[in-house]
Order: sequence, then structure tokens, then C-alpha cells
Amino acid sequence: MIIGILGVGHLAASMLAGFLRSGLDPAAIVLSPRGKATALSARHGFQLAADNRDLVERSDVVLLSVRPAHAPEAVAGLPWRMGQTVVSVCAGVPLSRLDVAPARIVRAMPFTASEIAASPTVYFPDLGEARAVLDRLGPSIALPTEKDFEVATVSAAVYGWAQDLIRKTAEWSSAEGLDPTIARRLAAMTFVAAGQLIAEKDEPMDQMLEELVTPGGITERGLQVLLARDVPAAWEEACGAVLDKLTGA
Ligand SMILES: NC(=O)c1ccc[n+]([C@@H]2O[C@H](COP(=O)([O-])OP(=O)(O)OC[C@H]3O[C@@H](n4cnc5c(N)ncnc54)[C@H](OP(=O)(O)O)[C@@H]3O)[C@@H](O)[C@H]2O)c1
Repeated sequence: MIIGILGVGHLAASMLAGFLRSGLDPAAIVLSPRGKATALSARHGFQLAADNRDLVERSDVVLLSVRPAHAPEAVAGLPWRMGQTVVSVCAGVPLSRLDVAPARIVRAMPFTASEIAASPTVYFPDLGEARAVLDRLGPSIALPTEKDFEVATVSAAVYGWAQDLIRKTAEWSSAEGLDPTIARRLAAMTFVAAGQLIAEKDEPMDQMLEELVTPGGITERGLQVLLARDVPAAWEEACGAVLDKLTGA
């Protein structure tokens, strides 16, 4: 199977690193000739297409990774064929705006953690060809409707907020005197541990938190400050704002 990448920018570079890490032969990947494509193909041996028409002709699965505003125009008029699959990672661009008939199309939302095969990637609809590609970037999660996919896409923004919280925690700790390397590693691994425990257990999250938050203890003290500043409500509002932006509401 030949995988084509149309739009070789930041996310594509992360996905390409993930494909290499998964053992994919770089000769099985063809890149559209813009952005980081020339440098990446020189370094790793990916094929370089002459233009987007050439890319589509040579690929079985095409990952569309241009900016959302460029997506409908980027796929228009290309020689799509039966049996081909397009996987669009363009946030907020509905399937109805991407005319790739008679090829089949899937939406997916990988994170830059694709680079280390740790991206929980939601996708819709559940096509085997798309799943086979996305599973190389971390655990893929099929969704039953495009509306569900849109809600799940908010997690792509939450992923960035989590990184911002890790940075803030690390900066605060080092300002208090902790070695910056230790502060960074500790903050990052704290978020990994919190997420992994919830991901691997079935108990209700309320119960897990109740067990964790000792009355009068340090976790409770911090939660009181966050609640007094309306942080939980602000977080919900931010999620809603992202969904509105994704759906054009
Ligand atoms: N960044 C993330 O973490 C992330 C996560 C999830 C989803 N996404 C989605 O991924 C997509 C790409 O994001 P990005 O951050 O990687 O953007 P980016 O760095 O700007 O990359 C987009 C690339 O597409 C190229 N391009 C634009 N039109 C093209 C065309 N017609 N033919 C060939 N190449 C074309 C651009 O080339 P030039 O440089 O020549 O203009 C650029 O290299 C977006 O739709 C975004 O919603 C991103």
C-alpha cells in the first residue's frame, strides 16, 4: 500500500515520524512537493510527487493535511479513483465539503503525539484502510457519527491545554527552586500517570477522585482555589467555544 501525504507541514511531519517508528518503509510514502516535503524526503527517503495529481495517481491512501481553509480547493479536480481512500485530518472541515468521489473519505484527528505512536486518534467512518494507517500512530478510536467526531475533536484542543498546564506547572516549580529538568519531567509524567490510571480502570471517575481527595488535604486545598476562580466553569466554556468554532455555530 502506498500512502500519499497532501500537505506536508507540522502535523504531517509528526505523522511521518510515527510511520517510520512503526517500521513503514519510507519508499511506501509519497509526499506533495511543498512545505517540509523536500527536506524530509532528502533526509528519510520518502518519494516526492511532481504535483498533487501525480501524488493522487501514485497513492492508495491519501492523508489530507493542509490548513482547513485550503482543504476543499486542495482536493478539487484531482484524479480520484474507486478503491482509493482519503483520510482528512483537517479540523472542522465536514465530509460534505471534500469532493473526492469516487474515492472514499474518512475524517481523523491525530495529535502530534503520533510522532511517538501515542496519539489517541478518533476517526469516522470506520474504514479498514484508514484504521490500518492510523493504528501506526497510536490507539485509533472509531466513532459512529460525524457529530460524535466533531465533539471528540475538541480533545485535540484539550491536548494543547494539557501541554500548557504541564509547562505552567514546570515553570512554577522551577521558579520555586526545583531543577528545571526535573520539574519538566515530573510535570509531564504526572499528567501521563493521571490519564493512564483513568484509561486503564473501569471505576466511576467520581469514585476515583473521592478516594484521591483527602478531606482537609492538599488536593482539596488546590481544588478550592480553582473552584473559587471558576476554573471548572471556564474549562467547560472553553470546550464549548472550540465545538462552536469547529461546527461554525
Ligand atoms: N498541528 C497540529 O497539531 C494538528 C493536529 C490535528 C489536526 N491538524 C490539522 O492538520 C492540518 C495541517 O495543520 P498543520 O499545523 O500541519 O499546518 P501547516 O504546518 O501549515 O501545514 C500545511 C501544509 O500544507 C501545505 N499546502 C497547502 N495547500 C497545499 C496544496 N494545495 N498542495 C500541497 N500542499 C499544500 C502548506 O504548504 P506551504 O508551506 O507551501 O503553504 C503547508 O506545508 C490542519 O487542517 C489542521 O486542522 C493539525
